[in-house]
Amino acid sequence: MPLCLEQAQERDAADPLRSLRARFAMPRAENGEPFIYLCGHSLGLMPLAARAEVAAALDDWEHLAVLGHERARQPWITYHDAIAGPTAQLLGCRADEIAVMNSLSVNLQLMLASFYRPAGRRRCILIEAGAFPSDRYAAATHLQWHGLEPRETLIELAPRPGEDCVREADIEALLAHRGEDIALVLWPGVQYLTGQAFDLARIARAAHGAGALVGFDLAHSVGNMPLPLRALAADFAVWCSYKYLNAGPGATGGCFVHRRHFSSPRPRLAGWWGHELVTRFEMPQHFRAAHGAAGFQVSNQPVLAAAPLVASLRLFREAGVQRLREKSLALTAFFELLIAERVPEARLITPREPDARGAQLSLRIGADVERARRIFQRLGAHGAVCDWREPDIIRAAPAPLYNGYADVFNFVARLEEAVRSA
Ligand SMILES: Cc1ncc(COP(=O)(O)O)c(C=O)c1O
Repeated sequence: MPLCLEQAQERDAADPLRSLRARFAMPRAENGEPFIYLCGHSLGLMPLAARAEVAAALDDWEHLAVLGHERARQPWITYHDAIAGPTAQLLGCRADEIAVMNSLSVNLQLMLASFYRPAGRRRCILIEAGAFPSDRYAAATHLQWHGLEPRETLIELAPRPGEDCVREADIEALLAHRGEDIALVLWPGVQYLTGQAFDLARIARAAHGAGALVGFDLAHSVGNMPLPLRALAADFAVWCSYKYLNAGPGATGGCFVHRRHFSSPRPRLAGWWGHELVTRFEMPQHFRAAHGAAGFQVSNQPVLAAAPLVASLRLFREAGVQRLREKSLALTAFFELLIAERVPEARLITPREPDARGAQLSLRIGADVERARRIFQRLGAHGAVCDWREPDIIRAAPAPLYNGYADVFNFVARLEEAVRSA
């Protein structure tokens, strides 16, 4: 018997996290119907509490002006500490290994300035061939910054012919073969296009075994799956907060610096906010880094941009990362099953093993790209929000904080209808 809407609704009724959905704003289509929103991998929904959090920051600004640095409800001087703690819980590391700041690409540039130090033969950066453009641009421009030619020093590892995903074994083999040339491995936690979740501990081990440093782009991992960052032993990591973290468009991102680098003489691109707090306002000439990742901060905290993150992190604490992952595994498996039943024409490029993916499924529909594009457009016209990535990939992700089984069912029903009529 194929799955039906009633079964999806029964699962929703039994979901211990179901009440969290009401804590988010669900946008509506022009006809007043709520969207079927499976786009948290791109931009998460707004936690309703975000408005109050931003309003409180505005109130403090209105009533305290400069005095808010010390007297705001969450004083602005130490605002960072209030976000670093809960973020660290989510990422499985120590709070002093986290700096919540800037956007992902800016943090990546800063981290590369510190951690990409070509020396002698060890000059190359290893990335994946399908890396997110910003990661590729950052790696290539750092090579150029050091006077190197990316064509010779940017190693891009592609999936095997006929495959969509890169195998960890191939990363290991490449590092075993060319390890002495590689200064840094830059790898995503979850691949933005395919939704593949990598075994990051394995990649970190292989990189370190070859004598290279390793940094992770966790844009699609943070808030999507539990991250034992500390156990991974990565040298650094960067992320944004507007996807599964639901902190709003362009929200403050973050970075992780492993504690073994806290007191290393590694250079950094410094700014006054990374100076140790006790003497920061004495305006000293010489930079003395604050302890830990906080010493990599550059500017003072954009409180209005960070406030929604405070609201969102509270919801994560309430839900619990492990419980969210359990729901996510079940929800995405349900999604996969429904697609197989109702849209057999769709081909998943996301791995089928639950450990090798997060919430997102990426699909290709048929060989006719224009028809696939029409299917995607029809989905949008019928209130189902997901996204399209060139050349022919539809990405959709049920986010366990606010999506349920009925959302997934209704989405696949729209997809089936769109495929039939396209
Ligand atoms: C994998 C990945 N890396 C980097 C970025 C760039 O993020 P930002 O614009 O916040 O710098 C994104 C944005 O979607 C992304 O998906």
